[in-house]
Amino acid sequence: MEMAERRNQTPITEFILLGFGNGPELQPLLFLVFLMIYFATVAGNILIVLLVVADRHLHTPMYYFLGNLSCLETCYASTILPRMLASLLTGDRTISVKGCLVQLCIFGIMAAIENLLLTAMSYDRYLAICHPLRYAALMNGRVCGQLVAGAWISSFLFCTMVNIFLFQLTFCDSNEIDHFFCDFTPVVKVSCSDTRSVQLVTFIISAIVTLVPCLLTLTSYVCIITTILRIPSTRGRQKAFSTCSSHLIVVIIFYGTLIAVYVAPTTNTPKVLHKLFSVFYTVLTPLINPIIYSLRNKEVKESLRKALLKLAAVRNRHRSVQDNFYLSCGLV
Ligand SMILES: *[C@@H]1O[C@H](CO)[C@@H](O)[C@H](O)[C@H]1NC(C)=O
Repeated sequence: MEMAERRNQTPITEFILLGFGNGPELQPLLFLVFLMIYFATVAGNILIVLLVVADRHLHTPMYYFLGNLSCLETCYASTILPRMLASLLTGDRTISVKGCLVQLCIFGIMAAIENLLLTAMSYDRYLAICHPLRYAALMNGRVCGQLVAGAWISSFLFCTMVNIFLFQLTFCDSNEIDHFFCDFTPVVKVSCSDTRSVQLVTFIISAIVTLVPCLLTLTSYVCIITTILRIPSTRGRQKAFSTCSSHLIVVIIFYGTLIAVYVAPTTNTPKVLHKLFSVFYTVLTPLINPIIYSLRNKEVKESLRKALLKLAAVRNRHRSVQDNFYLSCGLV
């Protein structure tokens, strides 16, 4: 009784994110690995955004979506990795309760937008492959912009609804969170308020922003694949498939890991495995997307090649201007 009273008087204001355990010899290694992953993620995604913005050949809805997805991936990785890197470097694993809830919300919003963008991208491929004659009428820059804006706005609205419940929670039992970032389940687990309503609301909203897009994406791909299989020539089939294969791989990785973490029964799977899968969809998907798109997509590859050639040409010109300058000054 006395304990309970004291607890009520001093609600917790700080959490400890246990991360990947205590091993001090492991921290520098993890720091280096995640630092490299973060740099590669940001560099790769920004490169794709620059290519899409700069190359006129990539000014089509499919690449607008890709550019927007890369923008989003940069933000998505930045909600988790910088803080994790800081705590690996300094060994300070505390995070304020407010900071933790903010991270949780931003991550939720980013994940929801990613879901909706991937769905919009598969709808775009569905129109291009299953209704090629009506594609130009149904999908253009304006529709693309509306879909992107819709994804952002609806994700913000949904997450605001969850936040109303989330920010009413109080925390007093334990302040240790056995994860490397503030994810919904481990945070709610340490709350001492009644969490039934927040869990119900979150469940419904996650179903709307995950299950519905996932099913729509699946339906698009069933239509796409049946259409492709009906193309008589092998070359035609290959050509049609090549425009959507990179996107299909990205979708499979994203939903595969998401399902492994949130849908698969968590009671039996060991904590380590759970964290490993979380690393996959929080840290590795944003890294893998630009790699898949730049390796598997002919147009992106071509655009990258041209950009590099241009860069080399600019450098050479610069050098020859410099040589001329030295020559005319009689320095050489
Ligand atoms: C995002 O989508 C909009 C709307 O189509 C487009 O105009 C813009 O260029 C895209 N952004 C990037 C970075 O590709």
